[in-house]
Amino acid sequence: EETGKSGYDHYMLKEIHEQPRALRQCLQERVDELSGTVDLGDDIADAVQNAESIQLVACGTSYHAALYAAELFRSQGVPAQAFVASEYVTSPPPHDDDTLVVGVTQSGETADTLSALRDAQRRGVDTLAVTNVVGSTAARECDGVLYIRSGPEIGVAATKTFSAQVLAVNMVAAVMGNGSASHEFVSALRDLPGQVQTVLDETNAREVAERFVDSDAYFFIGRGYDYPVAMEGALKMKEISYKHAEGFPAGELKHGPLALVTANTPVFAVVTGETGSEKTVGNVKEVEARDAPVVAVTDGRTDVERYADEVLEVPETDPRLAPVLANVQLQLVSYHVAKQLGRNIDKPRNLAKSVTVE
Ligand code: G6P
Repeated sequence: EETGKSGYDHYMLKEIHEQPRALRQCLQERVDELSGTVDLGDDIADAVQNAESIQLVACGTSYHAALYAAELFRSQGVPAQAFVASEYVTSPPPHDDDTLVVGVTQSGETADTLSALRDAQRRGVDTLAVTNVVGSTAARECDGVLYIRSGPEIGVAATKTFSAQVLAVNMVAAVMGNGSASHEFVSALRDLPGQVQTVLDETNAREVAERFVDSDAYFFIGRGYDYPVAMEGALKMKEISYKHAEGFPAGELKHGPLALVTANTPVFAVVTGETGSEKTVGNVKEVEARDAPVVAVTDGRTDVERYADEVLEVPETDPRLAPVLANVQLQLVSYHVAKQLGRNIDKPRNLAKSVTVE
């Protein structure tokens, strides 16, 4: 097993460090920088170009990638919504002839997600699986499949597959627009693996974890593309540290959760890109006024650092891709909190890598 971990203490840490490679594999032979084109094959191109609306179904970490994807597709003018798969099954939303249902599932075996996809198929809706596992049930049963090519993920808490899912749906978005992306965006895609490496090399996530390991709870806020990252940051913290953690859309904090904020509940504010970032800085000020420590995860486009006790920096990139970098910082913070608490990081209590019951 030690060899499997390549010298890392845990599979999770190994997989966090594998992200640059996973992202390169995901891009390989799909993105042509010279022509500025993205090619995922004719089947996927047909499916996504014919879709008048998109419904995404997923669970856990994959649901956060689905939330991100829905926002990305909406930004291209395509009505899109993410559903927790078990809720989709309980209360299927209306669809029309040109709806595409996208199942986002690392394993391709999650029962809730399979059930949602089967429900869509029974109603005659086209389905696309975005998955990591070749030949998985989702891959076999859906009308189309897009592999994220992350390589095996052993740690129960998903890390590299989330980053690759976010990258993969960016390629889907490019294909929606007839496959041509701006040269700037294609360069940003190409540079992303190297930027993830920089975050891994230069992070101060361990110090942040050491400082706040004894906190009562952790809150995570973000707006727009940073909102799914806030949700994912909280989920990762819960899964592996067993500490109370919650993610909120930044604007929602004041509508209730703010009552929970104290000097012993650090608030991680994910602030990247430009859209709405100033408003998130306003929310950070509300938190600061309640004496809660603030950890800003930021690309430096705002002055959020002025109000933060700690800063986790990420390099500047296209606003659509910055969330991947911010999320890597939060993966590392959770990992180090859990490690200091002596948790069973690769196999947290009560959790399974793939849940095959509804
Ligand atoms: C389980 C795992 C989570 C994972 C979720 C969805 O609950 O513990 O880490 O995100 O399943 O898995 P999937 O394979 O469908 O992405």
